[in-house]
Amino acid sequence: MCGIIGCVGHGTETTDVLLDGLSTLDYRGYDSAGVALSNGTVDVVKRSGAIEDLVSAVEASPPTGPVGIGHTRWSTHGPPTDENAHPHVDCPGEVAVVHNGIIENYEALRERLRAAGHTFESDTDTEVIPHLIESERDDGADPETAVRRAVERLEGSFAVAAVLADSDAIFAARRDSPLVLGIDDGGDRRRYYLASDVPAFREYTDRVVYLDDGEFARLTPEDWTVTTLAGDRVEKPVDTVEWDPEETGKAGYDHFMAKEINEQPRALRQCLSERVDELDGEVSIGDLAYLNPRGVQLVAAGTSYHAALYGAQLFRAAGVPATAYLAHEYATGTPPIGDELVIGVTQSGETADTLSALREASARGARTLAVTNVVGSTAARECDDAFYIKAGPEIGVAATKTFASQLAALNTLTIGMVPSKDDREAIAALRDLPADVQQVLDESNAAAVAEQYLDSEAYFFIGRGLQYPVALEGALKMKEITYKHAEGFAAGELKHGPLALVTSETPVFAIVTGDGERAQKTIGNVKEVEARDAPVVAVTDGASDVSRYADHVLSIPESSPQTAAVLANVQLQLAAYHTAAKLGRPIDKPRNLAKSVTVE
Ligand code: AGP
Ligand code: GLU
Repeated sequence: MCGIIGCVGHGTETTDVLLDGLSTLDYRGYDSAGVALSNGTVDVVKRSGAIEDLVSAVEASPPTGPVGIGHTRWSTHGPPTDENAHPHVDCPGEVAVVHNGIIENYEALRERLRAAGHTFESDTDTEVIPHLIESERDDGADPETAVRRAVERLEGSFAVAAVLADSDAIFAARRDSPLVLGIDDGGDRRRYYLASDVPAFREYTDRVVYLDDGEFARLTPEDWTVTTLAGDRVEKPVDTVEWDPEETGKAGYDHFMAKEINEQPRALRQCLSERVDELDGEVSIGDLAYLNPRGVQLVAAGTSYHAALYGAQLFRAAGVPATAYLAHEYATGTPPIGDELVIGVTQSGETADTLSALREASARGARTLAVTNVVGSTAARECDDAFYIKAGPEIGVAATKTFASQLAALNTLTIGMVPSKDDREAIAALRDLPADVQQVLDESNAAAVAEQYLDSEAYFFIGRGLQYPVALEGALKMKEITYKHAEGFAAGELKHGPLALVTSETPVFAIVTGDGERAQKTIGNVKEVEARDAPVVAVTDGASDVSRYADHVLSIPESSPQTAAVLANVQLQLAAYHTAAKLGRPIDKPRNLAKSVTVE
């Protein structure tokens, strides 16, 4: 949820590496930031606010040293103030720690430490860690042992990194929160990196080592090692990251979100090209094709939950009972009873709610499958199988291209697992999808529509069947980046309550594709809305006559019902994006949110 970067090496650029890394990571959490460098002493600079505030503070009095750690915070314990920003230090300021996650037993630990004479400067749970390390040092432990012992006493979820004044190492450990090492030991320069997310150091190296839960890493200017917390050596594979550093730049767009919306044709091609063969009318999903599940449960959160709702409909339409659960509510659902597949839909593969639902499913004996974008993510590694959506890195907090790729991936999964003679049309539409999305991007008038409704009180989105999750997603996109009230409804539900909210000040986006019974019923709902003077924006492929009742039309090409959902969603992404841009919102970093939510 928040960002960690670390760097050890020869040379004086450590501070620059840390600040660059933090700028790259600030989509993960951005209410405050800080760095600590160790060079016989520990120098800490930290500030609430944006990374730029930290950069100015660092320029005023640059800390130096070959070993450093940095953090962008997304506060869970205490407001975003200078004091609560990470790194946190011990009493003499000789140990500095950054932490992602939540220490559940921090109150008990803090009371004990206070009773032993330690003083605390912040409201955070994190601050107990440097004091625990200090107390182990006071008892005679060497730096590494002190950090290990401190970490052993923590309950909760964490990725932790520590530097000490009298050590040239970064020590790091993880439980339920991602950490990855970057290895750059070719040539005459030797540098090792540590981060919560690969983009933080991708410009320097493509060689990475993913830490697993319960592992402990030590990075020095000379080498790196990974052990268990108990100290047993772990042989870790060094993986190579496939994407280029440029993929994490804005490429001339004003916002990552705009870039990522426009990257959807390419992302979809990457997801579909090797899997969908239109000529043979076949979809290849490897061994997953033989899973033959008796039922499917999908667990996910936020945008990914909307993809899960869509996926559940696909499986049900193919004759496999399927239910989508909000991951954090999974415990209240029907437990898997065997022969069921539990699919975690998670872009990052690190969402704590989704991981915990998947773990519960696994503990109950279900087979688990991660549908994720991040190779090597926790979900990918912990599930029995992983199916990658191949969207490329997504930086904007608002999920866009990953949602499109999740829908495409779920289509290939259902067709691959439950083939039927009717697949040919769906497969042809999937093959055309990247080009159809490009057409929507090229021809969309969403910016002009957005302009008309900037002052609206609220925005509503309605759809039926496969377009219902799209309505939910359209509303989520609108609310998270514009800060305006937006709700998505199943079109038929409007008259059961929400219609009371509908006025001439509340535009209603109605997704109507095809001209079947569902489309006609939704058109009935559109008429109800129109009768209450609400402006109607129809998102439609033109197959029905919905445009007769609409004030504006956002057009999509005709395609299958499944792919129409992806196309309609592109128009809604653009409507939300342009509304937010015209309102001057910080689109890539909406307030209070973070890209990856690694706490429950
Ligand atoms: C909102 O645009 C999304 N970024 C958010 O709802 C996200 O989908 C959710 O937090 C789950 O993330 P995941 O896909 O990484 O698990
Ligand atoms: N719980 C810690 C805090 O509130 C860490 C939050 C984070 O993950 O950034 O400071």
